[in-house]
Amino acid sequence: MTTTRKLKLGAMIHGVGSSMSAWRHPEIPSDASISIHFYREQAKKAEEGKFDLLFIADGLFINEKSIPHFLNRFEPVTILSALGIGTSNIGVVGTLSTSYSEPYTVARQFASIDHITGGRAGWNVVTSPLEGSALNYSRKEHPAHSVRYEIAEEYLDVVKGLWDSWEDDAFVRNKETGVFFDLTKMHQLNHEGEHFSVQGPLNISRSKQGHPVIFQAGSSDSGRTLAAKTADAVFTNSESIEEAQRFYRDLKSRAVSYGRKPEDILIFPGISPVVGITAEEAERKYQEIADLVRIEDALLYLGRFFDHFDFSVFPLDEPFPDIGETGSNSFRSTTDKIKQRAREQGLSLRQIALQTATPRTGFIGTPQQVADRIEEWFEGEAADGFIIASSVPNSLRDFVDLVVPVLQERGIFRNEYEDDTLRGNLGLSKPENRYTAERNQTNDDQMEPLSKDRTVSAS
Ligand SMILES: Cc1cc2nc3c(=O)[nH]c(=O)nc-3n(C[C@H](O)[C@H](O)[C@H](O)COP(=O)(O)O)c2cc1C
Repeated sequence: MTTTRKLKLGAMIHGVGSSMSAWRHPEIPSDASISIHFYREQAKKAEEGKFDLLFIADGLFINEKSIPHFLNRFEPVTILSALGIGTSNIGVVGTLSTSYSEPYTVARQFASIDHITGGRAGWNVVTSPLEGSALNYSRKEHPAHSVRYEIAEEYLDVVKGLWDSWEDDAFVRNKETGVFFDLTKMHQLNHEGEHFSVQGPLNISRSKQGHPVIFQAGSSDSGRTLAAKTADAVFTNSESIEEAQRFYRDLKSRAVSYGRKPEDILIFPGISPVVGITAEEAERKYQEIADLVRIEDALLYLGRFFDHFDFSVFPLDEPFPDIGETGSNSFRSTTDKIKQRAREQGLSLRQIALQTATPRTGFIGTPQQVADRIEEWFEGEAADGFIIASSVPNSLRDFVDLVVPVLQERGIFRNEYEDDTLRGNLGLSKPENRYTAERNQTNDDQMEPLSKDRTVSAS
């Protein structure tokens, strides 16, 4: 039996947008980042378009140079809970940092969202790129890039262990006998590691998905290793189909080297489609946003990836400056790519700043053109799905109304949800509780000689 691979879609809800200037556009509500009305409307639209999931990004440090959306936005777990109530099929995925939180708390939070939504929760695991985050979390210093990933790996072990604290049928709740739970199905984790010491059990039962879906965002070598070992899905950025294909192949083969199947891990590049009824209309929409960007803002936007590095001291029209290792303890994979692009294409600081602030991607055009490009990446194994970010006003609406029907007609995207859980819609299996699996294995091992005996005595 062959199963047809289907495209997956996530909608990033990002308030007033991911640029310094988008909030100034007349069609963007300037309070969108803290408007529950805006978030609800976006969630409704994405669900109408049969999207797999909503995606909430996050960060833990701001200053006067941060983009407007980062200055004043909802905390992810809070907004995910609210959006989970107002929707019925779409998954709700949010970002939470393993460098600045405790696994016991986070395991509870995502298990709770999974219960609240009946199996639609997902966690985007990040390690936090900005040094200043330490100042908001009573830390003397921000852990180094490699240490952040070490912490993340142990953290995920603990969280997954806690999610198995209770076997699926542990809560008996028998009012007649007075038995609330089955003690043999409650388990302590007793984790003692380098960074965490957690006894367990978790104080909430196993949720419908067993383990909420794990996304990972981070594309350096260490980020890829973490994803290959632990994640169900990866959120990434690729500038060309060739780069995306290399990333895709690399991640799938790393997953296989850890004993997993290629389809156990889904790759989601983030894209910002700009759709118009005609190519000219799409171009006009892109230009409206690009024209709002002032060079000073573009420099601030670029600087954030390099831990708020001040690029304003360099000449704008000379080659991108040599800034050594700056950025490698922050958004390393992103800053490496920016430096490489500047070097290979001989770009000036002005060009790099403007390109980074409003990238001109291949996903600008008519619904057919955008669908062509999506299909090309999907069929060419550059992506299993996409996180759709809105760079221009109403781009989610345009995508759902104009591009989704084309993808459906072509048979690469669903007409109806296949399942009521996020795992189900993504085609991912539910992880079996480790203690149930162990018991089943022991029972099978004991059954083996028994059944042989029976066969002997019967003959
Ligand atoms: C596509 C993408 C999305 C990301 N989203 C977030 C986010 O929402 N919040 C956050 O703190 N970090 C985010 N990050 C940062 C990563 O978690 C990581 O800290 C950073 O990229 C450095 O790791 P790397 O060098 O492995 O990429 C994102 C990174 C990428 C590539």
